[in-house]
Amino acid sequence: MHSNRSRRLSRVTPQQLRAFEATARLLSVTGAARELHLTQPTVSVQLRELAAAVGEPLFESAGRGIRLTQAGEALQQTAGELNDCWRRFESRLAELNGLVRGSLRIAAVTTAEYFVPDLIGPFAAAHPGVEIEFAVENRDGVVARLQRGIDDMAVMMMPPEDLPLDRQPFLDNPLVVIAPAGHRLAGRRLRLSSLAGERWLMREPGSGTRMAAERHFAELGFEPKVAMSLGSNEAIKHAVAAGLGIALLSMVAVRPPVGRAAATTAEGLEILKVSGFPLRRRWSVVWRRDRPLTIAARRFIEHLSAARELRAPRGARA
Ligand code: PGA
Repeated sequence: MHSNRSRRLSRVTPQQLRAFEATARLLSVTGAARELHLTQPTVSVQLRELAAAVGEPLFESAGRGIRLTQAGEALQQTAGELNDCWRRFESRLAELNGLVRGSLRIAAVTTAEYFVPDLIGPFAAAHPGVEIEFAVENRDGVVARLQRGIDDMAVMMMPPEDLPLDRQPFLDNPLVVIAPAGHRLAGRRLRLSSLAGERWLMREPGSGTRMAAERHFAELGFEPKVAMSLGSNEAIKHAVAAGLGIALLSMVAVRPPVGRAAATTAEGLEILKVSGFPLRRRWSVVWRRDRPLTIAARRFIEHLSAARELRAPRGARA
């Protein structure tokens, strides 16, 4: 029985696995067919043959859609591992030929989107054979991607403690309190406690910026009056500039004022002078310790360390 099954499994084709991987990710046969430029019946046949080889159903219906069975989930993980193996083989082969080739998947939290593309630029130019995918999500989103092992690495401020990760801190992330231009407290030296009566705008739950703010405020016993949660750094800046409240935000998201004497940024914001701020935090690049790095990923991590020597992100030397 066992040997029968392994004989059947050895007939599984890469095409079937590709059809399965896309269907499992999108939970849609139509979506998978579209992504793979195949017809829907072709994908259905591949999935049927694959299920026959496995000897168990891989999907089951759930409401109007489909979901993975337990066997399907196990196969999804195996397919991911096979894919990683091939990618490593591809990059090793390229290295034997003196090239860095293959794909490089990088995830970053939303504050890092202001500078990671600047770091990718020269790397991409120096390694034209590397195809780069860059995903931006909030901290919760990046943690979920790390859990599933989607990316080669992630750039974030507070790596989760419960995953097997290696990390390399590489840039400062100062967090500042911003207010609308002309705010009555602008230009004055302030204590955090004097901001207790202000309306605070916070990033959405799941954001690392929000987590850092909440932790810091809790440590100081400071209870801000939270007026609103907003889903992006840009939304926070616009809301602050529009006079809806004040906020704690990464300095890289705030374009500094032009000229030494100016206090107001081009976006109509002012950085308040609050004692104990900027809050000094750092970004790290992290990767799964339990999965070997591709050559391209190793080279990119070296590239990031070199960048750390060269410069801090725009505006970070507050
Ligand atoms: P955020 O994360 O984009 O979720 O606020 C920022 C960070 O963790 O550095």
